[in-house]
Amino acid sequence: MLARFSATSSRSLAARSSRAFSTSAKALQASSQPHTLDANFGKKHIARGLSRLSDTVIKSGKGSYVETEDGRKLLDFTCGIAVTNLGHCHPKVSEAAAKQCMTLVHGQCSVAFHNPYLQLIDQLLPLMPHPSLDTFFFWNSGAEAVEASIKLARTATGRQNVIVMQGGYHGRTFGTMGLTRSKTIYSERVGPLMRRNSFANVYSNSTWS
Ligand SMILES: Cc1ncc(COP(=O)(O)O)c(C=O)c1O
Repeated sequence: MLARFSATSSRSLAARSSRAFSTSAKALQASSQPHTLDANFGKKHIARGLSRLSDTVIKSGKGSYVETEDGRKLLDFTCGIAVTNLGHCHPKVSEAAAKQCMTLVHGQCSVAFHNPYLQLIDQLLPLMPHPSLDTFFFWNSGAEAVEASIKLARTATGRQNVIVMQGGYHGRTFGTMGLTRSKTIYSERVGPLMRRNSFANVYSNSTWS
């Protein structure tokens, strides 16, 4: 009887929790359906430290143009800050990306090699200006690449000083902020920055500051 009671109550519990699950799954599904949100929503929920050139909401892109949610077609001079240099949604590029997503989503570089990773190196090797340039280190962003090169240079030379061009942009991570001179606002109120940097002024004869 006890067993029968338990079985019945656990069945009804299971039924109730499965109903609750399917209700919350439906609510989640409804809220995750693609729907249009405006710039005010973005401004409210995206950290204010991340500024942008415009509050336009981009809907799609094709070649050099983007279309906005309010129906405007704009020539995209920004190129995703040098990311979409082949234009938006080139069929070959998009197809290759989609194919890769259906093959292997992520082969983390500290875990193992994977074939596209090795193929990229194979294709870059003949393009290098000198055969001694045969070792690669891929990173996600320019700032990360600069950070890695500072570490590499310091390890290889045992020296600390870094020379950069006055007015240059190197990134906004802690190491690269100390090297970035295009705008000082990037490093305002977050110091101290990485020390021992020299700034070469390419626009005048006075070389160091
Ligand atoms: C002026 C400028 N140039 C380039 C970049 C791209 O930086 P990264 O290559 O580190 O993503 C950014 C990104 O914030 C930027 O603000």
